[in-house]
Amino acid sequence: MNIIVVGNAKETGKSALKVIKKTLSNKPNAVICFPTGSSPLPLYQEMVEDFKTNKTNYNQVVTFNLDEYKGLGSKHPQSYRYFMDTNLFSKINIKKENINFPNGVIKDAKEECARYHELLAKNKRDIQILGIGSNGHIAFNEPGTSFDSITHVVSLSASTIRDNSRFFDSIKEVPKQAITMGLSEIMDSETIILIATGINKAHAVLDMIKGPISEECPASILQKHKNVIVILDKEAASLL
Ligand code: GLP
Repeated sequence: MNIIVVGNAKETGKSALKVIKKTLSNKPNAVICFPTGSSPLPLYQEMVEDFKTNKTNYNQVVTFNLDEYKGLGSKHPQSYRYFMDTNLFSKINIKKENINFPNGVIKDAKEECARYHELLAKNKRDIQILGIGSNGHIAFNEPGTSFDSITHVVSLSASTIRDNSRFFDSIKEVPKQAITMGLSEIMDSETIILIATGINKAHAVLDMIKGPISEECPASILQKHKNVIVILDKEAASLL
């Protein structure tokens, strides 16, 4: 793993943007899979600024996203699709038809998982960007998820519901289930960039990098990947 420790959250965004721009300069039609949450926000802000200033071109880029809450549609302000539209997609020149997302409101969620898995299989990612949950989850793959998992419906753990309740008016409003890419699909990318900031990620970061490779810490699977870049601020790196 290539571990980069920077001074603050803004710098994590600058550092990740460099990798994206280098990839795009060699492959303008790169396939990029994005996460949601607060960790990638500085990156999205840097991408938007850079797009305004340097006109970096995304019009051939194909995107995927890691996950979506079950029951929340794209217009729901807490849905991940809405988050991506608001913070990134509407602010750069990604084509709507090149955006792929799990549909959280479809009736047959199993069928939706199969559809998404097939799409992912046909579009190998050049860059997979990740955050990490305080319990070591990536996307919504909670501790105990099989390393062989593919896109599936998941029941969220109490700690994830608690962590994510900060985005909702009350904890009761946090959906209990989500559709998430599986760990084997996350690994199916040329490059993986994981961004973590803040002291509440320090334990998960330690377990991911120095702990045993174990399904008890889903992010520890990244130790098996050949090209992982971990971008941390000082707090998230403080236990290493
Ligand atoms: C959610 C998302 C993950 C994300 C995690 C951490 O559970 N499904 O993809 O990595 O939260 O989010 P944050 O970056 O806001 O701490």
